[in-house]
Amino acid sequence: MTPHNHAKAGDYAEVVLLPGDPLRAKWIAETFFDEARLVNSVRNCLGYTGTYKGKPVSVQASGMGQPSLSIYVHELINTYGVKTLIRVGTCGGLNAKVKVRDLVLAQAATTDSSIVKGRFGAFNFAPIADFGLLRSAAEKAEAAGMTYHAGNMLSSDIFYHANGMAGYDTLPQHGVIGVEMEAAALYTLAARFDVRALAICTMTDCLITGAEIDAEERQSSLKEMVTLALEVAIKG
Ligand code: HPA
Repeated sequence: MTPHNHAKAGDYAEVVLLPGDPLRAKWIAETFFDEARLVNSVRNCLGYTGTYKGKPVSVQASGMGQPSLSIYVHELINTYGVKTLIRVGTCGGLNAKVKVRDLVLAQAATTDSSIVKGRFGAFNFAPIADFGLLRSAAEKAEAAGMTYHAGNMLSSDIFYHANGMAGYDTLPQHGVIGVEMEAAALYTLAARFDVRALAICTMTDCLITGAEIDAEERQSSLKEMVTLALEVAIKG
């Protein structure tokens, strides 16, 4: 038990999917898991454990942004012994070549967040995905015919910028292809505690072209992304 999680020791599987949205955690458990049981509902930040193809797996909502994700991830690792964390989320597009519905595998995560920068003093730490999970996700996406891009993600602390897209010109010029709000903190905590992490995102809104996913496409591409994440989770 923690202040944010009333699950007991052993309630989480060693591998956990991390959507931001609690209702997406519920949907993942109800749609994909066998024998799903609720293990956490503190703040309605829902967590479930069940099996997928006979293997134990959990899902825990992370909330939005790096501070919220950091609390859940820190506790999943240090209180519940979780070893593999796979974020499943959405991202904005920062490169016209990345189309809505495409998957972005966050090979690395650039950030404006003091939650990462504050740890390293003079150094610019490079938060990176676990190579084995990244390779597995790329291979499985390719085999399933999914369009995916592995590259540098921006994990921003800011959704609504005071002065337009400040800094967002320079980042795409340096190969950053998507923007979301969690991966850099996830990768930094995984590095700190020697566990494995990957963020997989569906691109839902392109900041360059203005293209947006529609509701039906959103649902089917989320299904594809979660299936991919679960296949990676159980086979590593
Ligand atoms: N910005 C930040 N996070 C996001 C976005 C975005 O445009 N789209 C989906 N997640």
